Amino acid sequence: MSPLHFLNQRRSVPAPKLAAPGPDRQQLEQILGAAMRVPDHGRLEPFRILAIEGPQRDTLGAFLAQRALELDPQTPPAQLDKDRKRFSHAPLVLAVIACPQPNPKVPEIEQLMTTGCVCFALLQAAQAFGFGAQWLTGWAARDAAVKARLGIAEDESIAGFIHIGQASNVVAERSRPELSSHFSRWPG
Ligand SMILES: Cc1cc2nc3c(=O)[nH]c(=O)nc-3n(C[C@H](O)[C@H](O)[C@H](O)COP(=O)(O)O)c2cc1C
Repeated sequence: MSPLHFLNQRRSVPAPKLAAPGPDRQQLEQILGAAMRVPDHGRLEPFRILAIEGPQRDTLGAFLAQRALELDPQTPPAQLDKDRKRFSHAPLVLAVIACPQPNPKVPEIEQLMTTGCVCFALLQAAQAFGFGAQWLTGWAARDAAVKARLGIAEDESIAGFIHIGQASNVVAERSRPELSSHFSRWPG
């Protein structure tokens, strides 16, 4: 079997298809541990991870619906319902927060890429334990009031919400980029 077999199996499971049970305490520690192995220029550790689980998922969903209505009183009920349930499908959602700091040698984009690597490492580690996972952002990740409700500072940003749970059904593979369109050799 190819040593890349596991990596080549990676795919997302849409959050609405993720159900309990999520990772237990030991599994979660290992999943988080895998994310601590990301490349990090200058060892700045420009990220943090916030778990949203249990009843807090519904609390956040209720806040989202209320906030959506505040932003647009005409928001259709179906959209409000979607927002209300947004964090309630998967048993565990890990908010990955970018906390870049000014540094003369490490530009912000490099610190953001490290944070993106954290998101990807969480996806892979969750899948290694047999869980399904999906990296989502959406309007909630960019809204100042949502950020404040989550205790995220103005100079921090949400790189993604990693939803993790049991895949309730098999997800079809999607077409993947054609390698030849994304790879070339420098002719010198
Ligand atoms: C930074 C980032 C944000 C994303 N946000 C969303 C999102 O809000 N909604 C969505 O449907 N997919 C989003 N995606 C895409 C999914 O994570 C996922 O890639 C997609 O469902 C395709 O599945 P795949 O990972 O198997 O390719 C996002 C991906 C990235 C990298």
